[in-house]
Amino acid sequence: MLLTWSLITLLAVPALAGMNKTGTLCTVTPSGSKDDSGFIMDAFKQCGQNGQIEITEGDFTIAKVMDVLNLKNCDISIRGKLTWNDDINYWTKNSIGVTYAQRSTAFRLGGDTFSIRGHGQALFFGNGQKWYDVNKNGSNMAGRPISLTLWKAKNVFIDGITWRQPQFWHTFVAYSENVTMTNLDMNATSTSQWNTVNTDGFDSWNSKDITIKNWVVKCGDDCISIKGNSSNIYVKNVTCYESGAACIGSLGNNAIEYVDNVLFEDFTAIHSSNAAWIKTYPGQGHVRNVTFRNFYFQDVNQPIYISPCIYSYSNCDASRLKISDITWENVTGTSRYNVAAGIYCSKGAPCTGLKFKDINIKPKNGGTAKVLCSNMNSDSGLSCTGTCPSGWKQQLSGNA
Ligand SMILES: *[C@@H]1O[C@H](CO)[C@@H](O)[C@H](O)[C@H]1NC(C)=O
Ligand SMILES: *[C@@H]1O[C@H](CO)[C@@H](O)[C@H](O)[C@H]1NC(C)=O
Ligand SMILES: *[C@@H]1O[C@H](CO)[C@@H](O)[C@H](O)[C@H]1NC(C)=O
Ligand SMILES: *[C@@H]1O[C@H](CO)[C@@H](O)[C@H](O)[C@H]1NC(C)=O
Ligand SMILES: *[C@@H]1O[C@H](CO)[C@@H](O)[C@H](O)[C@H]1NC(C)=O
Ligand SMILES: *[C@@H]1O[C@H](CO)[C@@H](O)[C@H](O)[C@H]1NC(C)=O
Ligand SMILES: *[C@@H]1O[C@H](CO)[C@@H](O)[C@H](O)[C@H]1NC(C)=O
Ligand SMILES: *[C@@H]1O[C@H](CO)[C@@H](O)[C@H](O)[C@H]1NC(C)=O
Repeated sequence: MLLTWSLITLLAVPALAGMNKTGTLCTVTPSGSKDDSGFIMDAFKQCGQNGQIEITEGDFTIAKVMDVLNLKNCDISIRGKLTWNDDINYWTKNSIGVTYAQRSTAFRLGGDTFSIRGHGQALFFGNGQKWYDVNKNGSNMAGRPISLTLWKAKNVFIDGITWRQPQFWHTFVAYSENVTMTNLDMNATSTSQWNTVNTDGFDSWNSKDITIKNWVVKCGDDCISIKGNSSNIYVKNVTCYESGAACIGSLGNNAIEYVDNVLFEDFTAIHSSNAAWIKTYPGQGHVRNVTFRNFYFQDVNQPIYISPCIYSYSNCDASRLKISDITWENVTGTSRYNVAAGIYCSKGAPCTGLKFKDINIKPKNGGTAKVLCSNMNSDSGLSCTGTCPSGWKQQLSGNA
C-alpha cells in the first residue's frame, strides 16, 4: 500500500511541476529539471501586475538570469530553496549589467509596490564557493553576479530571506526609493585557501528612503555599505561578523556623489575590519549628516576610520569631497591592535562638525588605544592622541 502510494506520488510529481495560475495567483512548484527560472519568469509575467506569486517549498534550480522591471502591486511569497547553478561561463557572459563600477547581477527586480516575503524559510544559495575559488582573491572579477538587485524599484518590502554562499554581493539597491528590508540572514564563508572577497551584505547607490532592520551578516567584506547619491537611510539592529560593519562609501570615483542623512544604530560587529567608517576617493561631492549610535564590537581591526583616498592612498589632500556633521555616540568595544580611530581628512576639504560622545574602545590585549586625527574640527569631543598620517590604511597588520 505504502509502496503504491509513493509510486503514485512519484508519478504525480511531473504533473504538478512548473507553474499554474488560479485567478491572480501564480504558483510555482519545483519542476525537478535543471532550470526552474523559466517557470518563475512565467509567474512574473502572468501575475507580476496586480497579482500574487507563490514559490512553494522545495528545491528550485536557477540556470538563467531573471530580470523583471515591471512589477506593480505584486506580493511574492517564497518558501523554497533557490540554488543558482555554478556555470561560471554562462553567468560571466550573461549576468545583467547594473552600471555601478561595471558590476552585474543574476536577479534584478524593479517596479512600483511589491513585496517579497521569505517567512524565514526562503533560502538563496549562490554556489559561491566555486566563485571564490575561481576569483582567487582577486578584487573585481568581470561578470561575477550580485545575488539580488533592486533597480528602479519603489515602495518595496522584503522580509525573512536567508542567503548562503552568494556569488558576489548579497544585495544591491540602485535608482530606488522607499525600500524596507527586514529580518535578512546572510553568510558567505569560504572553506578553501581563497577568501570570499566582495560578498558585501548590502550596497545602496542613487537611492533614497531605505530602512534596514534586524539583519545578521557574515560576509568577509562590507556589511552595510552606503554608496554615492544615497539619502535618508535608516539601519537598525544589525550584527556583522568578519565584515566592514557600518560603512559610507566608497564614493566619489570619477563622479560627483552625495550621501545625506544616514542613521546606523544598534550595531554589533565581531572580528571585523572596521565598525563605523567612511571611505571616499579623492573626488567631489559630500557626505553629510551621518550618525553611528549604540555600537558594540569585539576584535575589530580599526573601529573608527575615515579616508579621503581609499585604495590608492594617494592624492589624499586633493579630495574636495566634504565630510561634515558626522556623529559617533555610545561606541564601545575592543580593537584588534592599539588603534581605536584613524581619521585622515583631506587638507583640501577638512572635516567639519565631527562629534564624538561616549566612546570607549580598548585594545583586546590590554593597554590604551591610540586615536589618530588630522584635518578635522578640534571641538569634536574626541581626545586625539596624535596626528594621522596621510594615506593611512583601512586595515592595520599590527600595533601602530
Ligand atoms: C496549482 O496551484 C494550486 C495552488 O493555487 C495548487 O494547489 C495545485 O496543486 C496546482 N496544480 C498543479 C496542477 O500544479
Ligand atoms: C512605502 O512602501 C510601503 C510598502 O513597503 C508602503 O506601504 C508605503 O505606503 C510607502 N510609503 C510611501 C510614503 O509611499
Ligand atoms: C556562517 O557559516 C559558517 C560555515 O557554515 C559557519 O561556521 C558560521 O557559524 C556561520 N555564521 C553565521 C553567523 O551564520
Ligand atoms: C587570500 O587572502 C587571504 C586574506 O588576505 C589570505 O589569508 C589567504 O592566504 C589568501 N590566499 C592565498 C592562496 O594567497
Ligand atoms: C535584532 O535582530 C535579530 C536578528 O534578526 C533578532 O533576532 C532580534 O530579535 C532583533 N532585536 C530586536 C530588539 O528587534
Ligand atoms: C549623483 O548625483 C549628481 C547630482 O544629481 C549627479 O550629477 C551625478 O552624476 C550622480 N552620480 C552618479 C554616479 O550617478
Ligand atoms: C539628519 O539625518 C536624520 C536621519 O538620520 C534626519 O532625521 C535629520 O532630519 C537630518 N538632519 C538634517 C539637518 O537634514
Ligand atoms: C549603548 O549601546 C549599547 C549597545 O551597544 C546599548 O545596550 C545601550 O543601551 C546603549 N546606551 C545608551 C545610553 O543608549
